[in-house]
Amino acid sequence: MTTLTQDDKKRAVARKAIDFVPDNALIGVGTGSTVNFFIDELARIKGRIDGCVSSSDASTARLKAHGIPVFELTNIGELPVYIDGADEINHSLHMIKGGGGALTREKIVAASAQEFICIADEAKYVAKLGTFPVAVEVIPMARSLVARELVHLGGHPEWRQGFVTDNGNLILDVHNLEILKPVEMETAINQIPGVVCCGIFARQHAHVLLLGTDSGVKEIR
Ligand code: A5P
Repeated sequence: MTTLTQDDKKRAVARKAIDFVPDNALIGVGTGSTVNFFIDELARIKGRIDGCVSSSDASTARLKAHGIPVFELTNIGELPVYIDGADEINHSLHMIKGGGGALTREKIVAASAQEFICIADEAKYVAKLGTFPVAVEVIPMARSLVARELVHLGGHPEWRQGFVTDNGNLILDVHNLEILKPVEMETAINQIPGVVCCGIFARQHAHVLLLGTDSGVKEIR
């Protein structure tokens, strides 16, 4: 068996994701290094889609550089499909996302799509979520309040210093959270005043996981 690099696996799932792109439609596009490979693949077939809705300024810039039209979500109805990476994904297809800080727009675009296709290399596939810190987007004035509440939930929040989200907010990265019940933990974090969004995607999990492995791309539902 050939040993592939992590980038080889990202490229393979990005290529496979093209099979899930319907003709003459608008496609929801996530953020991150795996999605960057997907955007490059999308550029090859750009003639058969109408354009994209993007989850970050970074993805928008890459799509536009390829000459792919980008539309504002608020002017669009439901999207057939949203394609994005993950920092961790479990067997129920619950995810931790937000390593790149684009979690809020990612959750909004994902919620507007009928199907969430997650593209990830096998290093991201875990039995239990939480080794990767959970990003929480916070309104700046609420940073200390939210941090204290996150400590009550058992986590160790760390301010991502020098980073401002596309929405003008801050990120707290929460380490050591015991995420036994992802849906309940997502809800508990969301209910803290000042939280815009958290990086647990369990209430809205992926529908399909395309997992890049040494033996090829596995499709997990
Ligand atoms: C961006 O905010 C994240 O949610 C990314 O989707 C996630 O971190 C996966 O990124 P990579 O593909 O770079 O690992």
